[in-house]
Amino acid sequence: MRATIPAGLDRKEAEAYSRLDPEQLPKHIAIIMDGNGRWARKRHLPRIAGHRAGLTSVRSTVETASSIGIPALTLYAFSEENWKKRPKSEVDFLMALLCRYLKSEVATMNKQNIRLEYIGRLHELPPSVQDKMEWARKATSQNTGTVLTLALNYSARTELVDAFRSLVESAARNGGLEHLEIDEESVSRHLYTRHLPDPDLVIRTSGEMRLSNFLLWQLAYAEIYVTPTLWPEFRGVHLLEGIAEYQKRERRYGGLSGDASHPHAAHKSAKTSRS
Ligand code: FPP
Repeated sequence: MRATIPAGLDRKEAEAYSRLDPEQLPKHIAIIMDGNGRWARKRHLPRIAGHRAGLTSVRSTVETASSIGIPALTLYAFSEENWKKRPKSEVDFLMALLCRYLKSEVATMNKQNIRLEYIGRLHELPPSVQDKMEWARKATSQNTGTVLTLALNYSARTELVDAFRSLVESAARNGGLEHLEIDEESVSRHLYTRHLPDPDLVIRTSGEMRLSNFLLWQLAYAEIYVTPTLWPEFRGVHLLEGIAEYQKRERRYGGLSGDASHPHAAHKSAKTSRS
C-alpha cells in the first residue's frame, strides 16, 4: 500500500517520502548543523554569510520534520565552545540571527503546531536574547506537534555536570544525601533533555565524523548518519534521505539480531541486517 503523502511536501520530498515506511519514522532526530563556514569560503564570502544561508536550511528542515509528524527535532545551533572560541563579531551575529529567526518564525510555528524548547546553559546568554527566547517559548507552549529544541551555549559534558549537581541538590532538599539515588533513570530526569525521548537518529552535515560534545548520554543507541552536504545546502529532502538510511539499519541495542527485549526495541526499524 502506498503511503499517503503529507500536505506541505514539495515534489522531491514527496518522492523521497513515498519510499519511507511511515510506521517506522524516528521519534526524535538530532542534527549537528555543520559546514556554514566552508560553504561561505567556497563562495569567497564571509563566514556570517554561511550562517545566514544556514537559516534557510533550518526553516526547510523544521517544516519537513513537522509536516511528516516527527515528534521531536533537536538542532545543535550553538555550542559552548563556539561561544567561547569564536570572534565576538561572529557570536554577536549568531545571536542577532537567532533573535531574527525567533521573531519571524513564531507565527509559522503556531500555524504548524510546533513547540519551541531550548537546551544549554541559557542563563549565560545575553539577557536581551534570553527575553526573546522566553517570549518565543511561551508563544508556542500550547502547541502539540513537533517539539523543536534548539541547543544554545550547549555542551554535553557541562549538561552531565549540571545533572549530577542537580541530583545532589534535589536529594539535599528532600531529606538529605542519604536519600541520593543515582541510576540511569534519575540521571536522565536531571538532564536538560528531560522533556524528550533519546534521539533515534543523529545527522551530521559536512562529512565530519564527530559528535562534538553533543548529547553524549542521549545518543548512546542512536543511529548516526553523516552526509557530505554542507548545512546551507541541506533541505527537507536531505532529512528524508537520512530517515531512509535509518530505516535500513537494524537496531540491536547490544542484543542479537531480532532481539526485541530492549525497552526501545518496540520501535526499531529493521529492514536489512547490519552489524
Ligand atoms: C557550524 O558551521 C554552524 C554553527 C556554529 C552555527 C549554526 C547556526 C545556524 C545554522 C544558523 C542559525 C540557526 C538558528 C537556529 C537561528 P561552522 O561555522 O562551524 O562551519 P565550518 O565548520 O565549515 O567552519
